[in-house]
Amino acid sequence: RADVERYKARIKALLKEKDACLVAHYYTDALIQELAEETGGCVADSLEMARFGSQRPESTLLVAGVRFMGETAKILSPEKRILMPTLEATCSLDIGCPEDEFTAFCDAHPDYEVVVYANTSAAVKARADWVVTSSIALQVVEHLADQGKKIIWAPDKHLGAYVQKQTGIDMLMWDGACIVHEEFKAKGILDLKRVYPDAAVLVHPESPDAVVELADAVGSTSQLIQAARDLPNRELIVATDRGIFYKMQQAAPEKMFIEAPTGGSGATCRSCAHCPWMAMNGLDNIVAALEEGRDEIFVDEGLLDRARQPLQRMLDFSA
Ligand code: 13P
Ligand code: SF4
Repeated sequence: RADVERYKARIKALLKEKDACLVAHYYTDALIQELAEETGGCVADSLEMARFGSQRPESTLLVAGVRFMGETAKILSPEKRILMPTLEATCSLDIGCPEDEFTAFCDAHPDYEVVVYANTSAAVKARADWVVTSSIALQVVEHLADQGKKIIWAPDKHLGAYVQKQTGIDMLMWDGACIVHEEFKAKGILDLKRVYPDAAVLVHPESPDAVVELADAVGSTSQLIQAARDLPNRELIVATDRGIFYKMQQAAPEKMFIEAPTGGSGATCRSCAHCPWMAMNGLDNIVAALEEGRDEIFVDEGLLDRARQPLQRMLDFSA
């Protein structure tokens, strides 16, 4: 703990000295979330991280999360310096949607509106009509369905299937998945429900359909935290990255949070749900990023304007 306090004091001093603000995702280490709160930064879902970062007066944003979050910050605020604890922190959805293949896919279906999840590279965003995050995906696609549009959806097939089921829209789907959420199993949750029959089930829609089917609440990280607060149940089974427990416990301190198992039974693999890339964010590499200005995000000049349009459309739509 003495080390932790030293790191925290150093980061607080560096944030001031470098005119920087810490923007953290709910899946990062609790110590990072705590620091963001203590320094006037933000802890948020990917939509609110984007909005918050673009509205800050500081000249540097330290984005604790994964690479697409840093790129989104850069696209929305190209004049700012965007640092990350490590540029190695990526996302299986981003990796699974290479720009060249995606462009060819879109070119083959020119009469489709292109909707991409925020968990993609700047180049993929630049090819899109809309960017969405999980907290706004349903509303945007409902809006497009009302206009009679057909859409290309990429890259998360589980979130896509959920949105398609809710809206009935004609959708061409990319075959991508989140390696963390894809591991949740309906059987494991049903086993847990036998142990905690009064528990409600909270599910992020990157999870497979059979898991979403068991949910009392489905939503983005911020929507699940809200549900944890609002639902009357005292026990909550949570199918998303366990980093979220820090905020859930703050939101509903009297409740009990249970990790949804990622194995086949409630007794196995009780704490596997943690994104390996989110876990790369630490107090030590935050210090290094701020001290040395390393792990800075750059986005190709030629992509910035094109990638900003679908992102800004999302922010305007959700305002
Ligand atoms: P949220 O937009 O719900 O924060 O999700 C981001 C993410 O990467 C979930 O795995
Ligand atoms: Fe990507 Fe999944 Fe990690 Fe979120 S939890 S950043 S979707 S790999």
